[in-house]
Amino acid sequence: MENRSQWGSRLGFLMAAIGSAVGLGNIWRFPATAFENGGGAFFVPYLFALLTAGIPLLIMEYTIGHKYRSSSPRSFSKISKGMEWIGWWQVLISFVISTYYPVIIAWAIMYAYFSFGTQWGDDPTSFFVGDFLNLADPGTFGFIVPAVMIPLIVVWVLVLFFLGRGVKKGIELANKIFIPTLFIVFLIIVIRAVTLPGAFEGLNAFFEPDWSRITEGKVWVAAYGQIFFSLSIAFAIMITYSSYLPKKSDITNNAFITGFANSSFELLAGIGVFAVLGFMAVQSSTPVEEVVKGGVGLAFMVFPEIISQMPASGFFGFLFFASLFLAGLSSMISISETYIAGLQEKFSISRGKAVTFGGGLAFIVSLFFANQGGLNLLDTVDYFINNYGVALAGLFEVVAIAWFARSLKDLQQHADSVSDIKLGIWWRICLGIITPAILGYMMLQNLKTDLSSAYGDYPIDFLFNFGWLVAIGAMLIGAIITVKKWPAKDHEA
Ligand code: ALA
Repeated sequence: MENRSQWGSRLGFLMAAIGSAVGLGNIWRFPATAFENGGGAFFVPYLFALLTAGIPLLIMEYTIGHKYRSSSPRSFSKISKGMEWIGWWQVLISFVISTYYPVIIAWAIMYAYFSFGTQWGDDPTSFFVGDFLNLADPGTFGFIVPAVMIPLIVVWVLVLFFLGRGVKKGIELANKIFIPTLFIVFLIIVIRAVTLPGAFEGLNAFFEPDWSRITEGKVWVAAYGQIFFSLSIAFAIMITYSSYLPKKSDITNNAFITGFANSSFELLAGIGVFAVLGFMAVQSSTPVEEVVKGGVGLAFMVFPEIISQMPASGFFGFLFFASLFLAGLSSMISISETYIAGLQEKFSISRGKAVTFGGGLAFIVSLFFANQGGLNLLDTVDYFINNYGVALAGLFEVVAIAWFARSLKDLQQHADSVSDIKLGIWWRICLGIITPAILGYMMLQNLKTDLSSAYGDYPIDFLFNFGWLVAIGAMLIGAIITVKKWPAKDHEA
């Protein structure tokens, strides 16, 4: 008898998987990353990364979850006992991400409210770092900022509520509401954006290929990094989500649908963002290159400035920040579900207890990001946990599966037995050779950069404590947890 929680339908699973993939990474990370790395020419390494690493790894993670029907650590331990720590390492990476990711969602809530009456005034940058965040000097902390803490609590209440209700009645329900709403809201934004004066200039800047960049290693590193974060790979998420699939579920097809849906949304976000940037460039008679900023800067500094200049600014601003909220919340639920599932199985406890302890601890840690030094802390933790967490854990994952456990053939057989599209040797070459080679190269490049200069010009001890130590800590604590044995009988989620 199958007792494990299951998705109510194939659509339910797809909505949840797409909801996890489509997140802040698509809206605030992708457009600027593409622009900074060759514009139109970036699509070549991006597509290469999607097809050689993104989708093959997604198929692999779906297969692992579906075959072993367990959380990520338990699934890895079933492949080979020594691999359990990779699962916990990934769960801990997700735990760390779940402590700062909701902070950005909390900012989005406040900015949806600030949109009415464009409350950020004439200088949105100083409003963001000054009036709103009260930002402390780099490397220092300060008091809790209530305007961040209160919406942060709201985000956590929502996340824990849906997680507490379980797979079908909670996670699936949330995604079935959030994802269609997000697509509609985002479509309205993009249609409005491309009909603004100047939109064409923006799109031109976005798509114009700078082919000279394509030979730079840095550009390829950025493409792989983007695909990993955006597709929620090596976060333990996709293994956990696919473990709730019914036995008769197509794996390969679902992976292609998730991968292409996520990239389509990413492209749509790029079009919307650059059309709007073109509008701003034309309004202020400056070249598009000068108005682009990455990440936080784009969403919370440049966008408010543009929104102020648009007709019906309050409404447009509300829609934009609402879409950040919806995309972020559905991803946040998936990030947190990884440790809820892991805790439940390792300690044989109920979902309610796992949500209380796991979610409660993440909530308490996340409050730390609501203090005056929160933005610098977030920037540092995000950088290190992605480069030396997600990407490194992804490298360990493929090498362990392909070369140590030598499980690729076995997994291929499993995927083929339930999927319409049959996998070929290309899948094993992508995972066994191409992905490890490129990720290995990527790791060396990143190490070279970060050991020769201080990231973001932050103080060295700050980077050590909150960058290196957090990333290495996730790996070490992951190994320590494996000391505790699994309960005799598998706990059903
Ligand atoms: N995949 C999620 C995002 O893009 C984590 O934000």
